[in-house]
Formats: sequence, C-alpha cells, structure tokens
Amino acid sequence: MIYSKINATGSYLPERILSNKDLEKSLDTTDEWIVSRTGIKERHIIGDDETTSDMAYKAALDALKSSTINPSEIDLIIVATTTPDKVFPSTACSVQNKLNIGECPAFDIQAVCSGFIYALSIADKFIKTGAKKNILVIGADAMSRITDYTDRSNAILWGDGAGAVILTATDKPGILSTHIHSEGKYESMLHVPRSNNPSKKDTIEMQGNQVFKMAVNTLDRIVDETLNANNLMKSDIDWLVPHQANIRILEATAKKLEMPMDKVVVTLDKHGNTSAASIPLALDYGVKSGKIKSGETILMEAFGGGFTWGSALIKY
Ligand code: UT7
Repeated sequence: MIYSKINATGSYLPERILSNKDLEKSLDTTDEWIVSRTGIKERHIIGDDETTSDMAYKAALDALKSSTINPSEIDLIIVATTTPDKVFPSTACSVQNKLNIGECPAFDIQAVCSGFIYALSIADKFIKTGAKKNILVIGADAMSRITDYTDRSNAILWGDGAGAVILTATDKPGILSTHIHSEGKYESMLHVPRSNNPSKKDTIEMQGNQVFKMAVNTLDRIVDETLNANNLMKSDIDWLVPHQANIRILEATAKKLEMPMDKVVVTLDKHGNTSAASIPLALDYGVKSGKIKSGETILMEAFGGGFTWGSALIKY
C-alpha cells in the first residue's frame, strides 16, 4: 500500500505588519474589541510590488530547504488560493516558473479558507494511486487585496501569507484520511461579488455572525466524521491545527475534542485569517517551534466560503 507523508513544511509572511492599533486610526474599532471578539492582534500585509505567487514561491523554497528532495523531483504542484496573480495562467504555473521546475502538472484549487485541505486531499489521492511521488502543496493568499478597509467587520480579520508542504510517497501512513465538503446554497453568506466596474475593487462581503454559527456547528460534525472514519477517540489526537478564523471558533472545536487550548496551534493572534494559507502557516509554526513531533497525530480542519469545509487526519 502506498501512503503520502509530509516530508517538509515551509512558510512565508510579508514584512509589513498591520496592528489593531493601526486599524484604530482609520476605523471605528478598538484593539480591545478585536482581541476579545476574534483573538487577532496583528496581521501581515503583502508589499505593493509582491504577488501571491511570490509568497507561494518563498514558502515553497522554505519547505524545499528542510526537505530531503530536490526541486527537480517535484512531479505535481497544487496551489490553493482565492487571490491568484492573474486570471490565467494559474498561480501554480507561476510558482513552477519561479522555482525553475521543468515539465510537470501544475494547477490551482479554489475552495477559499478550505483550499489547503482540498489541495492536500487531491495530492494524497495522486500519491495513493501511485501516479505521483513528490507533490508541492501550497496555500497562499493576499486577502488584503480583496478587503474593504472601510468595513470594520471585515478589515480587522484578514491577513496575507503562504504556507507549503511537500508530500512524499511512503509505505507507512502519513495522511490517514481527508474529508471535503461543500454546500453552494450558502454562497452569498460569504463571497466577493463581481461588480464588473473596473474602477471599483471587488471586496469580501460576509454575514459574520451567521457564518460564525455555521462554522462552529459544521466543524463539530467534521470532528465526528474524521474520528469515526479512523476508529479513533478524541484522546488519540495530539494536536489540532485548525484554520485560523476566530479564536472563539478554535475554542469551540477544542472543547468538542475535550482538548486543552495548549494542544491547539494558534497563529491567529499574529497572522489574522490568511484563508488558504492559514493551516500550512500554523503547521509550519507548530513543527519549527518544536511543538509537533514525529509520530504525533494531527487533526486539521477548515471552514470557509461556499460553504466549503474539510479535515485531514495526519500521523506526522
Ligand atoms: O474563514 C472563513 C470563515 N469566516 C469566519 O469564520 C468568520 C466568522 N465570523 C466572525 O468571526 C465574527 O462574526 C466577526 C468577528 C466577524 C464579528 O463578531 P461578532 O461577535 O459576530 O459581532 P457581530 O457581527 O454580531 O456584531 C456585534 C456588534 C455590532 O454592533 P451592534 O449592531 O451590536 O451595535 C457590530 O456593528 O459589533 C459591531 N462590530 C464592531 N465593533 C467594533 C462589528 N465589527 C466591529 C469592530 N469593532 N471591528
């Protein structure tokens, strides 16, 4: 039996930091409100000359540096993003070009905040079927480019960055299972409608409170689905590496898992919600800070626009 395993992780965060105090200057909000309602203290913002593929490329370089493989051994590139550089070609093709990787398939996945879980799920299947051996999976988003900085309920949430993993074929389980879902009837609750007006920036519109409630309930269900699929108990999970949307959502999922918050990898305070980048950024932080160790069982989960949601259970 062939399995896929995380060979290496990497990340990149742009230099510029936008703090809650900075936002207080232009919005009717306070650091106290933002921290208590979301857990976010600051977020990174992409440079004016930077692109999503630049961030994805730097996260990929970081992952390659700690991996056991050369770029020439990568045989598939998948980038999860909602903020691609161009309408086409894909951000994955731009990353392929920047990394100077020769011919291999490369494509983007669009599942908003669940994008990394979707990409990981697809990559895992390419490896399990024997079709590919070393896959670069990246989550990268420049959410500031689609944020309305006059809308206090949105501007406080989003940040920019990229995280990457290299998945490698192995004979021992790594990825134990992945689960992905979507329900398009909720599309207008969290979306970026197209205005078709070139002078207007298309920005995120969200019914925050309803999305919050749906996220908590749905993530509750996906925890059960993932544990049942693997015949595991809550106590078998060593780490929760969740999509970083709101600290109260993370706390609700930890409670469902009967897990103390020190077993939850939290980067939300420093990164904000970086959409598809948030899980691989948190994973890289968990690994490089020495929290997550080889052989431990990690549950990753995400919920986002679509609605889309998903989980991955991993033996690291
Ligand atoms: O990653 C994809 C999935 N996304 C999510 O999971 C996000 C889910 N939603 C959330 O995280 C939260 O709903 C928000 C953080 C967006 C909002 O928090 P909330 O506790 O749900 O607040 P609310 O929307 O119910 O608003 C409560 C009050 C309102 O004032 P009134 O009507 O009670 O007078 C808002 O106008 O808070 C007000 N408010 C703010 N006040 C100060 C909204 N944003 C702000 C703000 N500063 N930035």
